Amino acid sequence: MATTALPIVQGTDPSRCVLDAFRTAIAKRVADALPPLTVEQVYAGVDYGKKGVDFTVALPRFRLPGKVDELAKKVLDNFQPDEWVEAVVHDKAFLHFTCATSGLTRLVLDQVHALTNDTPEPEYGSNTTGRGKRIVIEYSSPNIAKSFHVGHLRSTIIGAFLANLYKASGWEVISMNYLGDWGTQFGLIAVGFEKYGSREALEQDAIKHLFDVYVKVNADADKDPAVKVEAAAFFKRMEDGDEDALKDWRVWRDLSIRKYEGEYARLNVHFDVYTGESRVSKESMDNALAQLDEMGLIEDEEGAKRVNLEKYKLGKAVVRKKDGTSIYLTRDIGGAIERYEKYKFDKMIYVVSSQQDMHLSQFFKVLKLMGYEWADHLEHVNYGLVLGMSTRKGTVVFLDQIIREATSVMHEHMKGNEDKYSSIEDPEATSQEIGITGIKIQDMAAKRINNYTFNWDRMLSFEGDTGPYLQYAHVRLCSISRKNPELFPLPPRSQIDTTLLVEPAARDIVFLLGSYPDVVKVALRTHEPSGVVTFAFRLSHAISAAWETVIVKGEADIEKARARMWMYLCARDVLGAAMRLLSITPLERM
Ligand code: ARG
Repeated sequence: MATTALPIVQGTDPSRCVLDAFRTAIAKRVADALPPLTVEQVYAGVDYGKKGVDFTVALPRFRLPGKVDELAKKVLDNFQPDEWVEAVVHDKAFLHFTCATSGLTRLVLDQVHALTNDTPEPEYGSNTTGRGKRIVIEYSSPNIAKSFHVGHLRSTIIGAFLANLYKASGWEVISMNYLGDWGTQFGLIAVGFEKYGSREALEQDAIKHLFDVYVKVNADADKDPAVKVEAAAFFKRMEDGDEDALKDWRVWRDLSIRKYEGEYARLNVHFDVYTGESRVSKESMDNALAQLDEMGLIEDEEGAKRVNLEKYKLGKAVVRKKDGTSIYLTRDIGGAIERYEKYKFDKMIYVVSSQQDMHLSQFFKVLKLMGYEWADHLEHVNYGLVLGMSTRKGTVVFLDQIIREATSVMHEHMKGNEDKYSSIEDPEATSQEIGITGIKIQDMAAKRINNYTFNWDRMLSFEGDTGPYLQYAHVRLCSISRKNPELFPLPPRSQIDTTLLVEPAARDIVFLLGSYPDVVKVALRTHEPSGVVTFAFRLSHAISAAWETVIVKGEADIEKARARMWMYLCARDVLGAAMRLLSITPLERM
């Protein structure tokens, strides 16, 4: 195909996002017709169009002299279709552009294919904007003995997505789990363990057992203040490094981590570093406090030390208790400093519930006041609550119970179709993956900050925009090659005649495929997984809409059947890429 040389617009990369080239072509036309506009200036104003329109330019944004109608006329007067742009329509203040279909189809499918199959690493949709940069992403960070249940599920799911997203954008990613493994509550558990603990129960399920002990001793402490005093004394011994006081705690920590690792593996989530509040050194906290003191930011409050952040509407925050023991906030301050020293990150993200907005603002501010330049590169990615998280019978649960229950519902469902069931190698693993997909999609479907209600029926349904539906859409795309073996091997892609893909439903698919690299970029800017989820469903719907008209099986023209087959394979690859970005493993059969 003859391609007119296009100017290069800064920040675009047509070798990974071919729609960049189409946008550049549109920008060039407008700029040529409307001097003194530059291609760059117009490019920034080439937006995706609404329904049925590829790209739209809103003329008023350029603040040119003259009426919009006259400006539009100048663009339309000169218009000649070429291999990039097929048509332009003037509508009030807008110009709507249609990409030339044959070039679009050829270039998009070529690019999807090449970046999926012909290069070892960069998957289609990835970009290089983070090359040479390093990011620490802290997520999940459950407490090994407090509220063990699934409150941290969102941090885990969103964090895993962000880690994938930054990797796909060329960043070096260090994913970190900062366990809540330190603090007064461990004194409390130690006291409780003497009374209620059992080594056996601990071995069996450390997280659950420690939680039970915690609940019981907490109830005791509510009734009897002496329990709290005892707990504080115990924690003080731990802080002072008393080996006897630390022995049990070590076992709890190890067993909890082992248990969590199993769950993370099932969720397809991985950490480069397991650290925790206990790992923040006394030294770094002492130094930080001394420095704050010197700067006159510390107030004494009956022996406790506080940093006054009222000027910034962030209240007064205790940084050291009266008995000299550390607290959550101080550990975060010391921890961040240590992390910077160790990783020299360009950016660090904390994926933590919006309930801790104040806490994060406080310690970011303290670091900033201490003069650390990198404090500007800390970011809190927050999220709303999960309401009504319980088993179907209504009891509060731990993460593993949720996974087990989702798995068994899906397993029962699969058994309903005996033929299919027998063709699946590992039905248990398959149903677990579908169940987990249901949980994840429900979690990432809306904006992070929204609360949502955990809804079993909706989450595990095959109807509507659910996880199981998404897996089904992918499986269906995989089955089409199994069902049409006579079309394989496909000819080399240059010999596949893409001009045979003339149906509007095929074009819709192609255009969506082309937009995927932009979906990734937007997610990187907003830290929202929901855009990727929406994309995956739009693509699934477009495929489903094409299914009846753009057929493969039963298409008499073999060239046509092959072109369609190729398009569906590309669609499968992109849908799979989007699912993987969301930390979901796309299934081939179910
Ligand atoms: N373990 C904490 C909790 O469950 C979350 C930790 C968030 N991260 C941080 N650096 N403070 O509440």
